[in-house]
Amino acid sequence: MDLFNKCKMFVRHEEVRDLGCYPYFCAISENNGPVVIMEGKEVIMAGTNNYLGLTDDMRVKEATRDALMKYGTGCSGSRLMNGSFTIHAELEEMLADFMDKEAALLFSTGFQTNQGAIVPMIGRKDYLLCDRENHSSIFQGAMVVKGIVGKDAIIKYRHNDMADLEKKLSRLPEDAGKLIVTDGVFSMLGDIVNMPVLVELAKKYKARVMIDDAHGLGVLCKGRGTAHSFGLNDNADIIMGTFSKSFASQGGFVAADRYVIDYIKHHSPAFIFSASMTPAQVTTVKKSLEIIKEEPERTQRLYEIQKKVRDELKHMGYDVPDGVTPIIPVIIGDDLTTFRIWQLLFDKGIYVNAVISPAVPKGQQLLRLSFMSTHEDGHIDYLLKVFEEIAEKCKNIRSDNYQYECRAM
Ligand SMILES: Cc1ncc(COP(=O)(O)O)c(C=O)c1O
Repeated sequence: MDLFNKCKMFVRHEEVRDLGCYPYFCAISENNGPVVIMEGKEVIMAGTNNYLGLTDDMRVKEATRDALMKYGTGCSGSRLMNGSFTIHAELEEMLADFMDKEAALLFSTGFQTNQGAIVPMIGRKDYLLCDRENHSSIFQGAMVVKGIVGKDAIIKYRHNDMADLEKKLSRLPEDAGKLIVTDGVFSMLGDIVNMPVLVELAKKYKARVMIDDAHGLGVLCKGRGTAHSFGLNDNADIIMGTFSKSFASQGGFVAADRYVIDYIKHHSPAFIFSASMTPAQVTTVKKSLEIIKEEPERTQRLYEIQKKVRDELKHMGYDVPDGVTPIIPVIIGDDLTTFRIWQLLFDKGIYVNAVISPAVPKGQQLLRLSFMSTHEDGHIDYLLKVFEEIAEKCKNIRSDNYQYECRAM
């Protein structure tokens, strides 16, 4: 059979487009923070990871422009060779200090950071334990591990279910190396890992802990993230972060004891065989980090916004779990209803993320709302007014869709 047959057979995206509610790849032509021009019209951006609104901050933009002029557009090599600039080392020191760890290491994307830190950690006779709802980049790292040391090394436990984690840990050989990897703040549901119990289990079963805090950094505990918010920073052996969210750029890092960082930087193919972050990216992150430290009130604003939106959506009858982070899932439960409600919102000038399987389990398809500290009261009030207006229609859409079968994309 022709290799490309599967490509020809893939028409699900066209089916949804024909229904007039395809929610992906909407092009932005102007980005002014909370309001963007998307597909040629003005919309409130309520589906973003730009939690602190810093992509549009003049101080960040000016620092980035200056770095571009000083250092040029790219580094043209891996950190190991010609791609290490003084600003990379400066940023690593700043991050280590911010995270209260001995050392930090930059990677070129957050995705690569997870893959790049996990793969060298797991050798023969070691085990990797992952929450089922962890970000895909963690599982991509796990797939590489599986290829190298075998499938038995990878163990998934039920989402944030510490009893299940304990069950799985208790079956492993006592003296085997074990790494528990979990999101700090889960990217789709916005809930927070049960870290106090997780670290107790890690101690009991002699496991190491890695927290992917892509969505906790900049947001929780004055920006210092999930582990700090629990007062358990010392129990997170490796903390991972990305720069594509609160840090207004692209790239990622891990922070840990120096001997761990030294090991990763000499053993991680994702680090060694990829060009380093550009000077502009590094400088954006440096400036953003300064602002995060100087302006902790941004995290308070985020908390207030999410509380108002969560409370009011629940009051209107939407299925919204409790929580404290600016990621607010509105659970819809099937693909087509999710797409149709997404379209209703978009028609009224609101962009949110339409999330279906495999990003969430089937039956948990959802609209992911997420906010910036720079959203103004008027933006939030308008969004809530629209949700109220469409509440009745949403119920009708849901029952209409039982008639129509749309396969998951
Ligand atoms: C929890 C989590 N980890 C890792 C990543 C990957 O980060 P990046 O998009 O910066 O490559 C993401 C991105 O969405 C994420 O949500």
